[in-house]
Amino acid sequence: MALPLVLGIETSCDETGVALVRGDDLLVDAVASSMDEHARFGGIIPEVASRAHLEAMVPTVQRALDTAGVGLADVDAIAVTAGPGLVGPLTIGAAAAKALAVGLDVPLYGVNHVIGHAAVDELVHGPFPERLMALVVSGGHSSLLLVDDIATDVTELGSTLDDAAGEAFDKVGRLLGLPYPGGPHIDRLAREGDPDAIRFPRGLTAAKDQERHAYDFSFSGLKTAVARWVESCQDAGRPVPVPDVAASFAAAVADVLTAKTVAACRRHDVGTLVVGGGFSANSQLRELMATRCADAGIELRIPPIRYCTDNGAMIAALGAAAVRRGLEPSSLDLPVDSSMPLTRVTV
Ligand code: KG4
Ligand code: ZN
Repeated sequence: MALPLVLGIETSCDETGVALVRGDDLLVDAVASSMDEHARFGGIIPEVASRAHLEAMVPTVQRALDTAGVGLADVDAIAVTAGPGLVGPLTIGAAAAKALAVGLDVPLYGVNHVIGHAAVDELVHGPFPERLMALVVSGGHSSLLLVDDIATDVTELGSTLDDAAGEAFDKVGRLLGLPYPGGPHIDRLAREGDPDAIRFPRGLTAAKDQERHAYDFSFSGLKTAVARWVESCQDAGRPVPVPDVAASFAAAVADVLTAKTVAACRRHDVGTLVVGGGFSANSQLRELMATRCADAGIELRIPPIRYCTDNGAMIAALGAAAVRRGLEPSSLDLPVDSSMPLTRVTV
Protein backbone atom coordinates (compact mmCIF):
# COMPACT_ATOMS: atom_id res chain seq x y z
CA MET A 1 0.00 0.00 0.00
CA ALA A 2 1.19 3.52 -0.76
CA LEU A 3 2.35 5.59 2.19
CA PRO A 4 -0.15 8.23 3.38
CA LEU A 5 -0.32 11.44 1.36
CA VAL A 6 -0.23 14.49 3.67
CA LEU A 7 -1.23 17.96 2.54
CA GLY A 8 0.41 20.73 4.61
CA ILE A 9 -0.83 24.31 4.87
CA GLU A 10 1.24 27.18 6.28
CA THR A 11 -0.13 30.71 6.83
CA SER A 12 1.50 32.00 10.03
CA CYS A 13 3.00 35.12 8.49
CA ASP A 14 3.14 36.42 4.92
CA GLU A 15 3.67 33.20 2.96
CA THR A 16 0.79 30.98 1.84
CA GLY A 17 2.50 27.58 1.66
CA VAL A 18 0.90 24.36 0.42
CA ALA A 19 2.87 21.13 0.10
CA LEU A 20 2.27 17.44 -0.45
CA VAL A 21 4.41 14.82 1.29
CA ARG A 22 4.21 11.05 0.92
CA GLY A 23 6.19 9.24 3.61
CA ASP A 24 9.26 11.44 3.66
CA ASP A 25 9.10 12.29 -0.02
CA LEU A 26 8.23 15.86 -0.87
CA LEU A 27 6.05 15.82 -3.99
CA VAL A 28 5.45 19.54 -4.32
CA ASP A 29 5.92 22.76 -2.38
CA ALA A 30 3.84 25.70 -3.65
CA VAL A 31 4.27 29.15 -2.11
CA ALA A 32 2.58 32.51 -2.65
CA SER A 33 4.04 35.49 -0.79
CA SER A 34 2.51 38.85 0.09
CA MET A 35 5.91 40.36 1.05
CA ASP A 36 5.78 42.88 -1.81
CA GLU A 37 2.57 44.30 -0.37
CA HIS A 38 4.26 44.86 3.02
CA ALA A 39 7.62 46.25 1.90
CA ARG A 40 6.34 49.82 1.61
CA PHE A 41 5.13 49.68 5.24
CA GLY A 42 8.51 48.49 6.56
CA GLY A 43 6.90 45.51 8.30
CA ILE A 44 4.21 42.85 7.93
CA ILE A 45 0.67 44.25 8.21
CA PRO A 46 -1.45 41.37 9.59
CA GLU A 47 -4.70 42.45 7.91
CA VAL A 48 -2.99 42.75 4.54
CA ALA A 49 -1.42 39.30 5.03
CA SER A 50 -4.80 37.77 6.02
CA ARG A 51 -6.47 39.12 2.91
CA ALA A 52 -3.61 37.83 0.75
CA HIS A 53 -3.88 34.33 2.30
CA LEU A 54 -7.61 34.32 1.62
CA GLU A 55 -7.04 35.17 -2.03
CA ALA A 56 -4.07 32.82 -2.49
CA MET A 57 -5.39 29.74 -0.66
CA VAL A 58 -7.54 28.01 -3.28
CA PRO A 59 -5.22 28.74 -6.24
CA THR A 60 -2.17 27.60 -4.25
CA VAL A 61 -3.84 24.32 -3.18
CA GLN A 62 -4.90 23.76 -6.78
CA ARG A 63 -1.41 24.52 -8.08
CA ALA A 64 0.11 22.04 -5.61
CA LEU A 65 -2.31 19.27 -6.62
CA ASP A 66 -1.82 19.92 -10.34
CA THR A 67 1.96 19.96 -10.05
CA ALA A 68 2.00 16.69 -8.11
CA GLY A 69 -0.54 15.16 -10.50
CA VAL A 70 -2.88 14.09 -7.70
CA GLY A 71 -6.47 14.93 -6.83
CA LEU A 72 -8.00 16.00 -3.51
CA ALA A 73 -9.46 12.49 -3.18
CA ASP A 74 -5.90 11.10 -2.93
CA VAL A 75 -5.12 13.12 0.21
CA ASP A 76 -5.00 11.00 3.40
CA ALA A 77 -4.40 13.69 6.04
CA ILE A 78 -4.22 17.47 6.41
CA ALA A 79 -1.60 19.28 8.49
CA VAL A 80 -1.83 22.96 9.29
CA THR A 81 0.13 25.51 11.30
CA ALA A 82 -1.73 26.00 14.61
CA GLY A 83 0.83 28.56 15.90
CA PRO A 84 2.85 30.49 16.76
CA GLY A 85 2.22 33.34 14.33
CA LEU A 86 -0.21 36.11 13.47
CA VAL A 87 -3.76 35.30 14.57
CA GLY A 88 -5.56 36.50 11.42
CA PRO A 89 -3.28 34.67 8.98
CA LEU A 90 -3.27 31.51 11.15
CA THR A 91 -7.06 31.55 11.23
CA ILE A 92 -7.31 31.61 7.43
CA GLY A 93 -5.05 28.55 7.13
CA ALA A 94 -6.88 26.69 9.90
CA ALA A 95 -10.26 27.41 8.31
CA ALA A 96 -9.06 26.08 4.96
CA ALA A 97 -7.54 23.00 6.59
CA LYS A 98 -10.69 22.24 8.57
CA ALA A 99 -12.87 22.63 5.49
CA LEU A 100 -10.65 20.21 3.57
CA ALA A 101 -10.53 17.71 6.45
CA VAL A 102 -14.32 17.75 6.79
CA GLY A 103 -14.96 17.67 3.06
CA LEU A 104 -12.51 14.82 2.43
CA ASP A 105 -13.24 13.02 5.73
CA VAL A 106 -9.54 12.75 6.61
CA PRO A 107 -7.71 13.47 9.89
CA LEU A 108 -6.47 16.97 10.70
CA TYR A 109 -3.20 17.73 12.52
CA GLY A 110 -2.52 21.19 13.93
CA VAL A 111 1.26 21.53 14.24
CA ASN A 112 3.86 23.91 15.65
CA HIS A 113 5.40 26.24 13.08
CA VAL A 114 8.78 26.63 14.80
CA ILE A 115 9.27 22.87 15.11
CA GLY A 116 8.25 22.58 11.45
CA HIS A 117 11.32 24.67 10.57
CA ALA A 118 13.44 21.78 11.90
CA ALA A 119 11.19 18.94 10.68
CA VAL A 120 11.52 19.97 7.03
CA ASP A 121 15.14 18.84 7.03
CA GLU A 122 14.01 15.20 7.15
CA LEU A 123 12.59 15.69 3.66
CA VAL A 124 15.90 17.05 2.44
CA HIS A 125 18.63 15.14 4.28
CA GLY A 126 16.78 12.00 5.35
CA PRO A 127 15.48 10.64 8.67
CA PHE A 128 16.74 12.24 11.87
CA PRO A 129 19.06 10.39 14.25
CA GLU A 130 17.70 9.48 17.68
CA ARG A 131 18.67 12.80 19.17
CA LEU A 132 19.58 16.12 17.63
CA MET A 133 19.84 19.83 18.32
CA ALA A 134 17.86 22.35 16.26
CA LEU A 135 18.49 26.07 16.00
CA VAL A 136 15.51 27.89 14.48
CA VAL A 137 16.32 31.47 13.52
CA SER A 138 14.10 33.86 11.57
CA GLY A 139 12.47 37.27 11.70
CA GLY A 140 10.08 35.98 14.34
CA HIS A 141 11.94 33.29 16.26
CA SER A 142 15.35 32.37 17.68
CA SER A 143 15.05 29.08 19.51
CA LEU A 144 17.42 26.33 20.51
CA LEU A 145 15.65 22.97 20.68
CA LEU A 146 16.75 19.56 21.90
CA VAL A 147 14.87 17.06 19.74
CA ASP A 148 14.39 13.50 21.00
CA ASP A 149 11.45 12.89 18.68
CA ILE A 150 10.41 15.54 16.21
CA ALA A 151 6.70 14.68 16.54
CA THR A 152 6.44 14.10 20.27
CA ASP A 153 9.47 15.09 22.31
CA VAL A 154 11.04 18.52 21.85
CA THR A 155 12.63 20.50 24.68
CA GLU A 156 13.23 24.24 24.37
CA LEU A 157 16.68 24.89 25.85
CA GLY A 158 16.59 28.58 25.13
CA SER A 159 15.14 31.37 23.05
CA THR A 160 15.50 35.07 22.53
CA LEU A 161 14.47 37.28 25.42
CA ASP A 162 13.80 40.20 23.09
CA ASP A 163 14.41 40.51 19.33
CA ALA A 164 14.77 37.51 17.04
CA ALA A 165 18.00 37.39 15.02
CA GLY A 166 16.35 38.42 11.74
CA GLU A 167 14.37 41.13 13.52
CA ALA A 168 17.62 42.58 14.93
CA PHE A 169 19.08 42.60 11.41
CA ASP A 170 15.98 44.35 10.07
CA LYS A 171 16.11 46.99 12.84
CA VAL A 172 19.81 47.64 12.30
CA GLY A 173 19.06 47.76 8.56
CA ARG A 174 16.58 50.58 9.19
CA LEU A 175 19.18 52.36 11.32
CA LEU A 176 21.66 52.17 8.46
CA GLY A 177 19.06 53.41 5.97
CA LEU A 178 18.76 50.09 4.12
CA PRO A 179 15.49 48.90 2.50
CA TYR A 180 13.17 46.48 4.37
CA PRO A 181 13.85 43.68 5.13
CA GLY A 182 17.37 44.77 5.97
CA GLY A 183 18.78 41.30 6.78
CA PRO A 184 19.99 40.31 3.30
CA HIS A 185 21.39 43.83 2.69
CA ILE A 186 23.45 43.72 5.88
CA ASP A 187 24.69 40.26 4.92
CA ARG A 188 25.88 41.59 1.56
CA LEU A 189 27.50 44.74 2.98
CA ALA A 190 29.11 42.76 5.79
CA ARG A 191 31.06 40.76 3.24
CA GLU A 192 32.82 44.00 2.20
CA GLY A 193 33.58 45.13 5.76
CA ASP A 194 35.92 44.24 8.61
CA PRO A 195 34.21 42.09 11.27
CA ASP A 196 36.87 43.14 13.82
CA ALA A 197 36.50 46.87 13.16
CA ILE A 198 34.14 47.45 16.10
CA ARG A 199 33.77 45.23 19.15
CA PHE A 200 30.01 45.07 19.71
CA PRO A 201 28.58 43.36 22.82
CA ARG A 202 27.73 39.63 22.87
CA GLY A 203 24.40 39.43 24.75
CA LEU A 204 23.95 36.97 27.65
CA THR A 205 27.47 35.55 27.39
CA ALA A 206 28.83 36.91 30.68
CA ALA A 207 29.70 34.45 33.46
CA LYS A 208 26.69 35.63 35.49
CA ASP A 209 24.34 34.63 32.64
CA GLN A 210 25.62 31.06 32.46
CA GLU A 211 23.27 29.78 35.11
CA ARG A 212 19.87 31.06 33.98
CA HIS A 213 20.48 32.09 30.39
CA ALA A 214 23.18 29.77 29.07
CA TYR A 215 21.11 29.03 25.94
CA ASP A 216 18.98 32.17 25.74
CA PHE A 217 19.70 35.01 23.35
CA SER A 218 19.34 38.76 23.59
CA PHE A 219 19.98 41.11 20.70
CA SER A 220 18.41 44.36 21.90
CA GLY A 221 21.57 45.55 23.72
CA LEU A 222 23.56 44.89 20.57
CA LYS A 223 21.06 46.84 18.48
CA THR A 224 21.31 49.77 20.91
CA ALA A 225 25.11 49.62 20.79
CA VAL A 226 25.01 49.85 17.00
CA ALA A 227 22.58 52.79 17.22
CA ARG A 228 24.91 54.62 19.65
CA TRP A 229 27.93 53.96 17.48
CA VAL A 230 26.17 55.29 14.37
CA GLU A 231 25.00 58.37 16.31
CA SER A 232 28.51 59.04 17.56
CA CYS A 233 29.76 59.09 13.98
CA GLN A 234 27.01 61.47 12.96
CA ASP A 235 27.62 63.74 15.99
CA ALA A 236 31.31 63.94 15.11
CA GLY A 237 30.44 64.67 11.47
CA ARG A 238 32.21 61.49 10.34
CA PRO A 239 30.69 59.32 7.59
CA VAL A 240 29.32 55.99 8.92
CA PRO A 241 31.54 53.14 7.66
CA VAL A 242 28.49 51.04 6.81
CA PRO A 243 30.30 47.86 5.68
CA ASP A 244 32.41 47.78 8.87
CA VAL A 245 29.35 48.36 11.07
CA ALA A 246 27.44 45.64 9.19
CA ALA A 247 30.35 43.19 9.39
CA SER A 248 31.00 43.81 13.10
CA PHE A 249 27.29 43.56 13.93
CA ALA A 250 26.81 40.37 11.88
CA ALA A 251 29.91 38.87 13.52
CA ALA A 252 28.47 39.53 16.99
CA VAL A 253 25.17 37.83 16.13
CA ALA A 254 26.88 34.84 14.48
CA ASP A 255 29.34 34.51 17.37
CA VAL A 256 26.60 34.29 20.01
CA LEU A 257 24.32 31.97 18.02
CA THR A 258 27.09 29.54 17.14
CA ALA A 259 28.87 29.56 20.53
CA LYS A 260 25.69 28.81 22.46
CA THR A 261 24.49 26.19 19.99
CA VAL A 262 27.78 24.28 19.96
CA ALA A 263 27.98 24.50 23.76
CA ALA A 264 24.47 23.00 23.99
CA CYS A 265 25.44 20.16 21.63
CA ARG A 266 28.48 19.39 23.76
CA ARG A 267 26.59 19.63 27.04
CA HIS A 268 23.87 17.25 25.80
CA ASP A 269 26.26 15.04 23.89
CA VAL A 270 24.46 15.59 20.58
CA GLY A 271 26.28 14.92 17.31
CA THR A 272 23.82 16.42 14.80
CA LEU A 273 22.62 19.98 14.42
CA VAL A 274 19.82 21.22 12.17
CA VAL A 275 19.60 24.96 11.45
CA GLY A 276 16.33 26.29 10.02
CA GLY A 277 14.30 29.48 9.61
CA GLY A 278 14.77 32.35 7.16
CA PHE A 279 17.77 33.76 8.98
CA SER A 280 19.77 30.59 8.25
CA ALA A 281 20.34 32.24 4.85
CA ASN A 282 22.78 34.53 6.65
CA SER A 283 26.27 33.88 5.32
CA GLN A 284 28.12 35.02 8.46
CA LEU A 285 26.11 32.51 10.53
CA ARG A 286 26.59 29.71 7.98
CA GLU A 287 30.33 30.18 7.77
CA LEU A 288 31.00 30.36 11.48
CA MET A 289 28.60 27.51 12.26
CA ALA A 290 30.27 25.29 9.66
CA THR A 291 33.71 26.01 11.14
CA ARG A 292 32.69 25.57 14.76
CA CYS A 293 30.66 22.40 14.07
CA ALA A 294 33.57 20.89 12.14
CA ASP A 295 35.92 21.69 15.04
CA ALA A 296 33.51 20.08 17.51
CA GLY A 297 32.80 17.03 15.32
CA ILE A 298 29.13 17.95 14.92
CA GLU A 299 27.27 17.06 11.71
CA LEU A 300 25.61 20.25 10.42
CA ARG A 301 22.39 20.00 8.40
CA ILE A 302 20.94 23.15 6.81
CA PRO A 303 18.13 22.75 4.27
CA PRO A 304 18.30 24.82 1.05
CA ILE A 305 17.03 28.37 1.58
CA ARG A 306 13.61 27.81 0.03
CA TYR A 307 12.87 25.28 2.78
CA CYS A 308 14.25 27.62 5.48
CA THR A 309 11.85 30.47 4.79
CA ASP A 310 8.21 29.81 5.65
CA ASN A 311 6.69 27.10 3.44
CA GLY A 312 4.12 24.31 3.37
CA ALA A 313 6.70 21.51 3.23
CA MET A 314 7.76 22.11 6.83
CA ILE A 315 4.15 21.69 7.98
CA ALA A 316 3.51 18.64 5.79
CA ALA A 317 6.79 17.13 7.10
CA LEU A 318 5.70 17.49 10.70
CA GLY A 319 2.19 16.25 9.84
CA ALA A 320 3.69 13.21 8.12
CA ALA A 321 5.84 12.50 11.19
CA ALA A 322 2.70 12.65 13.36
CA VAL A 323 0.86 10.29 11.00
CA ARG A 324 3.83 7.87 10.97
CA ARG A 325 3.78 7.69 14.74
CA GLY A 326 0.03 7.07 14.80
CA LEU A 327 -0.66 10.19 16.88
CA GLU A 328 -4.22 11.13 17.71
CA PRO A 329 -5.46 13.76 15.19
CA SER A 330 -6.45 17.24 16.35
CA SER A 331 -10.03 18.13 17.03
CA LEU A 332 -11.92 19.78 14.16
CA ASP A 333 -12.44 22.83 16.37
CA LEU A 334 -8.71 23.18 17.01
CA PRO A 335 -7.90 26.72 18.08
CA VAL A 336 -4.99 28.68 16.61
CA ASP A 337 -2.51 29.95 19.19
CA SER A 338 -0.43 33.00 18.28
CA SER A 339 2.04 32.19 21.06
CA MET A 340 1.88 28.39 20.88
CA PRO A 341 4.52 27.04 23.26
CA LEU A 342 7.35 24.89 21.94
CA THR A 343 6.39 22.17 24.39
CA ARG A 344 3.49 21.41 22.05
CA VAL A 345 4.50 19.85 18.74
CA THR A 346 0.94 19.01 17.71
CA VAL A 347 -2.45 20.10 19.05
O1 KG4 B 1 11.72 32.79 8.13
P1 KG4 B 1 11.56 34.11 7.47
O2 KG4 B 1 11.44 34.16 5.97
O3 KG4 B 1 10.29 34.84 8.00
C1 KG4 B 1 9.92 34.78 9.33
O4 KG4 B 1 10.42 35.61 10.10
O5 KG4 B 1 9.13 33.88 9.70
O6 KG4 B 1 12.77 35.00 7.94
C2 KG4 B 1 12.96 36.31 7.43
C3 KG4 B 1 13.99 37.02 8.28
C4 KG4 B 1 13.98 38.51 8.05
O7 KG4 B 1 14.17 39.16 9.28
C5 KG4 B 1 15.16 38.71 7.11
O8 KG4 B 1 15.73 39.99 7.19
C6 KG4 B 1 16.12 37.66 7.62
O9 KG4 B 1 15.32 36.54 7.96
N1 KG4 B 1 17.09 37.27 6.59
C7 KG4 B 1 18.42 37.50 6.70
C8 KG4 B 1 18.99 36.98 5.53
N2 KG4 B 1 18.01 36.46 4.74
C9 KG4 B 1 16.85 36.65 5.42
N3 KG4 B 1 19.12 38.07 7.67
C10 KG4 B 1 20.45 38.14 7.50
N4 KG4 B 1 21.10 37.66 6.42
C11 KG4 B 1 20.42 37.09 5.40
N5 KG4 B 1 21.06 36.62 4.34
ZN1 ZN C 1 8.95 30.84 10.34
